[in-house]
Amino acid sequence: MDILEAIDNRKTIRKFDNYKPTTDEVKRIINSARVAPSAMNTQNWKFIAVLNDEVKEKMADCVLSAYDRIVADLEDEIKDRVERFKGHSVFFKHAPLVIVCIEEKAPSFMNGVLELAGFSDREISLMRPDSFLLSMGGAIENMLLCAYSMGFGSCWMVAPVLGEGGMREVLDIKDNQKIVSILSIGKPAQDYTDKRSPKKPLDEIIKIIE
Ligand SMILES: Cc1cc2nc3c(=O)[nH]c(=O)nc-3n(C[C@H](O)[C@H](O)[C@H](O)COP(=O)(O)O)c2cc1C
Repeated sequence: MDILEAIDNRKTIRKFDNYKPTTDEVKRIINSARVAPSAMNTQNWKFIAVLNDEVKEKMADCVLSAYDRIVADLEDEIKDRVERFKGHSVFFKHAPLVIVCIEEKAPSFMNGVLELAGFSDREISLMRPDSFLLSMGGAIENMLLCAYSMGFGSCWMVAPVLGEGGMREVLDIKDNQKIVSILSIGKPAQDYTDKRSPKKPLDEIIKIIE
């Protein structure tokens, strides 16, 4: 498939049929993350492919427990609003393939230099965007486009990371590792009709300086 076609037509899919990706297909998708650009080519990432339903269920339970803890002492009105988020957080357990995207934290040399040079935390945060997280974004988008070009649908998810505390144990995440996203991937369900979310017109987001 043409790359531009994939970029233009990919859309989030949240409902899948039962097709289980083969190991080769899983590896093909994650290989597209492997070759993504990363700050100073650090490749500070790991990816866990979960095809096992029991493990997915345990992960979803971690997310639900986190929600219980979050809303325990909150007012009913806020609870109701949080409740609506839940639906967009745990459907990943029905996805045939779940890819847990893990960032491996490493100290940034230049951030340390700026601290030594007396720059404030705010200045440092403005001068030094989070390169490792940005690299994760590139790797993840590669996987979404790769999956799309292979006929899979996907949903990039951050909401389930609320359950990261419990998921650390379930997935054996190390101390220097941080779950940054979870991808739900599978063949789109036949009856999935959601349109692509509306996008802002180009004029609204672009400024060309000639
Ligand atoms: C960083 C990020 C986090 C997201 N987290 C969630 C999520 O937790 N749950 C969900 O259902 N969708 C999530 N999405 C999907 C967005 O809702 C979706 O990309 C957006 O509505 C645009 O739709 P499109 O992907 O079809 O263009 C996330 C997307 C991104 C990029």
